[in-house]
Amino acid sequence: MNTAIHFAERIKESMKNFNYHIPTDIYFGKGKIRVLGDKITAIGQNILLVYGGGSIKKSGLYDQVIDELNRAGVTVSELPGVEPNPRIQSVRKGIEICRAKGIEGVLAVGGGSTIDCAKVIAAGACYEGDAWELVLDARKITKALPVASVLTLAATGSEMDGFAVISDMEKNEKWGTGNDITKPVFSILDPEYTFSVSKYQTACGTSDIMSHTFENYFNRVPGAYLQARMAEGILKTCIKYAPVAMEEPDNYEARANLMWASSLAINGLISYGEDAAWAVHPMEHELSAFYDITHGAGLALLTPYWMQYVLREETLPRFVEYGVNVWGIDPEQEDMAIARQAITKTREFFDSIGMPSHLSELDIDDTHFDVMAMKAAAGGLAYGFVPLDKQDVRRIYEMAL
Ligand code: NZQ
Ligand code: ZN
Repeated sequence: MNTAIHFAERIKESMKNFNYHIPTDIYFGKGKIRVLGDKITAIGQNILLVYGGGSIKKSGLYDQVIDELNRAGVTVSELPGVEPNPRIQSVRKGIEICRAKGIEGVLAVGGGSTIDCAKVIAAGACYEGDAWELVLDARKITKALPVASVLTLAATGSEMDGFAVISDMEKNEKWGTGNDITKPVFSILDPEYTFSVSKYQTACGTSDIMSHTFENYFNRVPGAYLQARMAEGILKTCIKYAPVAMEEPDNYEARANLMWASSLAINGLISYGEDAAWAVHPMEHELSAFYDITHGAGLALLTPYWMQYVLREETLPRFVEYGVNVWGIDPEQEDMAIARQAITKTREFFDSIGMPSHLSELDIDDTHFDVMAMKAAAGGLAYGFVPLDKQDVRRIYEMAL
């Protein structure tokens, strides 16, 4: 366990410089939908309402949103039917509406897919070329309509970050884009809206929150001590509350903690001052791009294999901290034994919430491994916790078969 204590000294990487910028106003808690009517004009008088495949109609949230928008007296156009793993075609449809109706602001009501779609619509409405260009190159987003959200699923953190992930299934491509300009102006987070989320989506959402936290936590700047402790708190929150929310869908405490964890895992708070190039996300995005699987399930599947692959002498200290601080593993053991147990516990946790552990369970074989590995490796993996190239990624996919 001494290794963990000496990690910072050995690597000598202190907290890096950063600019703090989290502009999204959050209205969190029961009944907070009532602020929508007061706040919506902050994004405009002429609104595009974007939502998914119908869950908000079933839950009654749609009616509440419409009441609030009517109370504010704003004009409303609608884009329903945004898909999980949102498609560029939906983005283009939304942009057409924005142009035809002179839309001033975009309100997303739903999960990450809906919010992501809304962000790229907002940027695309201010861009002369095709929106796919914005997906391929975030630097082209220099202007966007203001976006706001009402969140219904604790997972991506899209409610409080600038990112958006859009797919073109005809090309088997799924890429992340976005920047500070696409951060929501405000987001309403009422945990009660997540009572209707299925067990499976609750587990996938939790896996996504944990993965965002891992991507930040396993970095090469151990001097960012405070951020690491906050990350461990988010991981412990997920481990404690996901099983509760799955057993008791209307347990407010569990849903509230998961919902806030969703935002904090990716809004910058735990990544400021670090040097975190993400690894498992680029690998998972290729699975979604080729097989349209649920993002969180792919992350839960790949993460323990990635951990096994990158565990080595120089990464050992962070794994030891993870094992001791998150899983409560006895620190009086050999470091490598602690690290291995931590990885096993990670796998066991994902198994316990019903996540897949082999690609074959999702009917995925090695047909596209070469091209998937090449594309994933192009996504910055060379700068991660452990630099990986396409051969490494292929080996991780093979381990996961
Ligand atoms: O479409 P509806 O009918 O709303 O149903 C959705 C969908 O079928 C349903 N759902 C959402 N809220 C519900 C509900 N069902 C019942 N009750 C509710 N309250 O859940 C299903 C999944 O929804 P989706 O929005 O796709 O899930 P999630 O929030 O996990 O978003 C996943 C997408 O976000 C991207 C992923 O790649 C994926 O495309 N990501 C976005 C990120 C970001 N913006 O920062 C980062 C992430 O790493 C991630 O890549
Ligand atoms: Zn994610």
